[in-house]
Amino acid sequence: MKVLVIGGGGREHAMAWRVAQDSAVDGAYCVPGNAGIAADVSCVPGKILQTKELSSLAEFLEVDCTVVGPEAPLVAGVADEFESRGLPVVGPSQEAARLEGSKVFAKDFLVDNAIPTARSVTLEDERDVDATVGRFGYPVALKADGLAAGKGVLIVQEEAEARARARGMLAGNVVGDAGRRIVVEQFLDGEEVSFMVLSDGEAYCVLPATQDHKRAYDGDAGPNTGGMGAYCDDSILSSAMRDRIIERIVEPSLAGMRRRGTPFKGFLYCGLMITQEGPHVLEFNVRLGDPETQPLLYRLEGEFAELLASASRGALDPSLVRVAERPTACVVMAAGGYPAKYRTGIPIRGLRQAAQQGAKVFHAGTRLAAGSPVTAGGRVLGVTASGAGIGEALSNAYRAVRAIDFEGAHYRSDIGSRGLSRLASENA
Ligand code: AMP
Ligand code: GLY
Repeated sequence: MKVLVIGGGGREHAMAWRVAQDSAVDGAYCVPGNAGIAADVSCVPGKILQTKELSSLAEFLEVDCTVVGPEAPLVAGVADEFESRGLPVVGPSQEAARLEGSKVFAKDFLVDNAIPTARSVTLEDERDVDATVGRFGYPVALKADGLAAGKGVLIVQEEAEARARARGMLAGNVVGDAGRRIVVEQFLDGEEVSFMVLSDGEAYCVLPATQDHKRAYDGDAGPNTGGMGAYCDDSILSSAMRDRIIERIVEPSLAGMRRRGTPFKGFLYCGLMITQEGPHVLEFNVRLGDPETQPLLYRLEGEFAELLASASRGALDPSLVRVAERPTACVVMAAGGYPAKYRTGIPIRGLRQAAQQGAKVFHAGTRLAAGSPVTAGGRVLGVTASGAGIGEALSNAYRAVRAIDFEGAHYRSDIGSRGLSRLASENA
């Protein structure tokens, strides 16, 4: 079997690497990939928004299945292009991708289907700002409607700032046209969980829960990022909570999309806040999470490529997913300055030593310069390891992190701390 992965970040490295492990796979490709992906599978140059060129590439490579990593090509209709040419693809249609492409659409969908989510109101006229932003008290979440690469959500503590920020967004000064409509949302307090499922439009299978770390610095301080690290451990959710999420959120979401005539095919990521009142949807993504995919796929056993192929054919076989006992963790090493301005082209040392520590270093933002890896993005590497328990997985990951060096590198030193404290309280 031959598989093509679209994208070039840490999530795509994990997917390409994992697909290439399967016994049935004799060709694994990635477009455009990066320096680390090129060490594991064949990379092909290309632009991820050129949907016609991508489908021609899949035809040329004679792949049995294509899986789309990032949201932008899905929102641009890449899956529709593939489907129209009879090419099997894992990823939702443009219409179904609105669950991520428009926060206003997602909120309306959640409310229409009685799926638990924070109370909210849509704001599109600057004249309504003063009367609207305080409706749910403070802090408040202000969310740009459109795609904003992780920069579209502001949590604001008080009224004067909320009014100013909302005006700035509506005027297009924060995330451009993506902010011309905003969702003003009640702040929810609790623990965040990333809950992902794979669906073929009808059937679905549940992937193990993961937990991301969105803030830049230790102790959840600093600005939001794309994610500074994640782990995958059974302690994240009790089985009762998992059942509740499936019953109250996953099944009504998939059924709601079918009822609209836009069945959801692909990975549905439910970004949840587990509050005192139970799980609430903060956001949907229409693809796997990044960096959550790195610890997730590092832990997943079974025939992943076959699983993708079965979903792409509309004949999902959930028995192909098996979850290893050992928990996993991923620590993101970011460029100096990230998530604000950062430099690229900085040489990366110690990758071989890190691998010798037993970790898998997924590349997020790297390229080759004269045959050697250099930085090429804000999130540079996702250092991933497993262990007998979450503590051991984390110490294995951090040992490998300390073997790697590039100028300005920064990472959080408290990835998985919620998992560790859960463990400590269980043992107390
Ligand atoms: P989103 O892209 O909607 O997931 O928002 C990005 C981050 O902002 C989330 O991961 C949360 O940490 C935070 N956030 C979003 N909405 C809320 C909310 N209603 N209450 C509290 N935190 C939120
Ligand atoms: N790590 C969060 C996301 O992939 O959106």
